[in-house]
Amino acid sequence: MNVLVIDGSRRAKSNTGAIARDLQAQLHRAGQTADLWRVPKWSAGPDATAEALQRLAVADAAVLVAPIYLDQMPAVTQRLLEDVWERRAELDGHAPLFYGIAHSGFPEPIQRRAELLSMRLFAAQMGWIWMGGIGFGGTSPIDGRPLDEAGMFSRQLRKVLPRAVEDIARARPFSAKTIAGSDKSPFPLPLTAMIALVNLRTRKAARDRQLRLDARVYAPD
Ligand SMILES: Cc1cc2nc3c(=O)[nH]c(=O)nc-3n(C[C@H](O)[C@H](O)[C@H](O)COP(=O)(O)O)c2cc1C
Repeated sequence: MNVLVIDGSRRAKSNTGAIARDLQAQLHRAGQTADLWRVPKWSAGPDATAEALQRLAVADAAVLVAPIYLDQMPAVTQRLLEDVWERRAELDGHAPLFYGIAHSGFPEPIQRRAELLSMRLFAAQMGWIWMGGIGFGGTSPIDGRPLDEAGMFSRQLRKVLPRAVEDIARARPFSAKTIAGSDKSPFPLPLTAMIALVNLRTRKAARDRQLRLDARVYAPD
């Protein structure tokens, strides 16, 4: 299998990069050809889309790994999908198998639902086969480190990514076992306590930076 792993984050020291690199290394170890490609910057022009199309044109499978920003896929990643869709004729009917991996700071699966749905709808619009999506919460503390060095914060990923690699290498949809292992909180606290703690930290960070969390930027004056 020739697999294209798409790193869907432009952030410096990105956790998505850490996950995508780990996935690529595991695919290599499983005897697959795995190409890693990062979504282009917002200012990138049409050449960047052409590069994506060239890589997709030779991929048997594509795995999009993307974080959640403000309940959704990062704008750069969303735009890449829109650009690929606009220029889909250049793929000349080629349709890689499409897998999604969403991850987020908050642990609850609902954080990642909209992004995984966007990926699934993208595959449907492209006429590609959707091979399933998996989610991981609580990834912020990975802090760009290799997954092997991130201790309990990458435990779920270290457990589930090998299963995902097995699925991809066999060109099968994410299995029930792979899906069942994902979407678990890595924090050793009940989810409600964890959410309360993260909310407290977020409110404190906003106060320190004099940000208004109740601001409704699109509301009429
Ligand atoms: C601008 C921004 C918005 C975010 N919004 C959310 C969010 O809505 N829900 C959530 O669970 N995590 C959110 N996060 C946390 C990220 O999903 C998490 O830290 C992730 O590991 C970042 O991956 P990255 O390093 O590849 O950017 C946000 C992070 C940033 C930087």
